[in-house]
Amino acid sequence: MDLGIRGRKAIVNGGSAGMGRGSVLALAAEGAELYVSARGRDRLQRTCEEISALTGADVTPIAADHSTAEGRAAILEACPQPDILVGTCSPPPFTGDYKAVSSEDWLQNLEVTLLGPVDFMKMVVPGMVERGWGRVVNIGTGAAKFPAQVRILSGPPRAALVNYTVAVAKAVARHNVMVNNVLPGMHHTAATEERFSALARQNGTTYEDEIQNFINEWNIPANRFGDPEHVGSFVALLCSEQAAFVTGQSLVIDGGQTNATF
Ligand SMILES: NC(=O)c1ccc[n+]([C@@H]2O[C@H](COP(=O)([O-])OP(=O)(O)OC[C@H]3O[C@@H](n4cnc5c(N)ncnc54)[C@H](OP(=O)(O)O)[C@@H]3O)[C@@H](O)[C@H]2O)c1
Repeated sequence: MDLGIRGRKAIVNGGSAGMGRGSVLALAAEGAELYVSARGRDRLQRTCEEISALTGADVTPIAADHSTAEGRAAILEACPQPDILVGTCSPPPFTGDYKAVSSEDWLQNLEVTLLGPVDFMKMVVPGMVERGWGRVVNIGTGAAKFPAQVRILSGPPRAALVNYTVAVAKAVARHNVMVNNVLPGMHHTAATEERFSALARQNGTTYEDEIQNFINEWNIPANRFGDPEHVGSFVALLCSEQAAFVTGQSLVIDGGQTNATF
């Protein structure tokens, strides 16, 4: 299926690894022109070169922190009029006792997970409205919908981001600007590799053992973690021409972990 986005300009914030990288790959494969941000220059450069070589797409790296005003300005300088905006970041740290989460933790985390994405939308959605075409996808977390004490720094700000995006989605839908969210469960990403390898070293086990322990403890019906490139394909679908009547939605991709009737 051709997603109808050949030549569309797409910014992917947080695109050098994980589900952001998966999104860059899927959008590039559809012929979009990519502008990809991340803080770490080397991995970003490598990812952009790899994806450009694989797909033939133009993939421009922008080393910038999208949680800062300067970072957002640098990204927009490289691509002032995006048709597509995809936003993600590294998962916030796991939390223990809710009482131990400090105000400083909250403030630091809110910049990355909520205020940065909100500011970015404020800066690019009006241009999409004027041009009569736009797609925004925020990659948040399943914990936005299914709260847990260990995900206190991850779920609540993204629940707020979903609330905000639905409000914006309603305001701009008549201009063919569609705003949606993807809420992932557990996937094999750079962040997962880091966390579960550290656990394996600490416990004298293997990465695979730690993943299986998590699957058993959290009862993931698919009995595995997901593939970030598959998430990228769903992101690209929400950025497609065919998504013209899909807005304000939050797609949970979690191997069945949180299934209910609807
Ligand atoms: N992995 C999972 O199993 C899982 C489960 C549930 C929810 N999620 C959610 O899914 C999303 C993506 O997670 P992931 O596992 O794919 O993360 P990841 O593998 O750590 O990749 C995150 C990407 O974002 C970039 N990034 C982080 N902060 C940034 C910033 N301030 N400015 C620019 N780029 C930034 C990182 O590069 P630099 O570090 O170089 O900046 C990297 O390219 C997150 O919202 C996370 O909470 C993940």
